[in-house]
Amino acid sequence: MKTAYDRFGVGYARRRRPDPHIAAAVTDALGDARTVVNVGAGAGAYEPRKGAVVAVEPSLVMLRQREPGLAPAVRAVAEHLPFADAQFDASMASLTIHHWPDWQAGVAEMRRVARKRIVLFHFDLSRQDQFWLVEDYLPEAVTLPAPTVAEVEAVVGARLRVDVVPVPNDCTDGFLCAYWSRPEHYLDPEARAAISTFHLLDPETCNRAITALHRDLDSGTWDARHGHLRTREELDLGYRILVADLV
Ligand SMILES: C[S@@+](CC[C@H](N)C(=O)[O-])C[C@H]1O[C@@H](n2cnc3c(N)ncnc32)[C@H](O)[C@@H]1O
Repeated sequence: MKTAYDRFGVGYARRRRPDPHIAAAVTDALGDARTVVNVGAGAGAYEPRKGAVVAVEPSLVMLRQREPGLAPAVRAVAEHLPFADAQFDASMASLTIHHWPDWQAGVAEMRRVARKRIVLFHFDLSRQDQFWLVEDYLPEAVTLPAPTVAEVEAVVGARLRVDVVPVPNDCTDGFLCAYWSRPEHYLDPEARAAISTFHLLDPETCNRAITALHRDLDSGTWDARHGHLRTREELDLGYRILVADLV
C-alpha cells in the first residue's frame, strides 16, 4: 500500500506545518463533531486535538512523521475505509483528494462513514491560474488533475457550503500558493520539495520556471510587477473549505 508520498513525502512535516488561521477555519467547519475520521491524514495537519479522532493514511513515510500524542492512525486508503456506516460524526480530508487514484470512491466512502458532516480543505484550480507563479512562470501547474467543487458536490450528493480560505502572508503550511508574498522561498529546493506540483511536473519545466523567477527577482522585474503583494496581509488563491451537512 504505497502512494507517491512514499517517494516525495520525506521531510514533508518540516515545511508543511499547519497554519493557525486555516486550522481555526477547519475547527469551525467541524463544529460540534466529536468523533472524526481524518482521511489522507499525512502527518496530521488540521486534525482535531480533542474528541475521538482516527487518522487514515496509506503512506508509511507520512505515518512516520506523525508526532506522538496525535490520534491513532490506521494504514488504509480512502477508497476502502475500514469502518462501519455512519461510524463518525464527521469525516474530513485536507489537501488530499486530488492525490487519490479514485477520488470519487474515496469521497463516497467519506460520505458512507459520516453521520453528520463532511469537511474538505481543498482548492479551486480555476482560481490558481491568476496566481503570479502559475500565470507568469508555471502555467503547467493547472494542468494537473483536481476535482472541481461541482464534481465533489455531485459525488457527496448533498449541497456543499463553500468557505473561502484566504492564504495569510506568513502561511506556515508550505503548499503551492503559500509563498505568494515571499517569492524568494520558491528558489529554495527544500520548499519546492514539500510541494507536490514540483514532483508531478517534469523537472525541465520546473527548472525553467524557477530559473525565470530567479532572473526576475534579481533584475527587479518581479517587484515591478508584483511587489505590491509584499505588504498585503492575505490573498484569496482558490483555497476552500467545503462542508456538507448530512442531517
Ligand atoms: C498533500 S498530503 C496531505 C496530508 C495532510 N492531510 C495535510 O493536510 O498535510 C496528501 C496525502 O494524501 C495521501 N494519499 C494519497 N493517496 C491516498 C489514498 N488513496 N487514500 C488516502 N490517502 C491518500 C498521501 O499519502 C499524503 O499523505
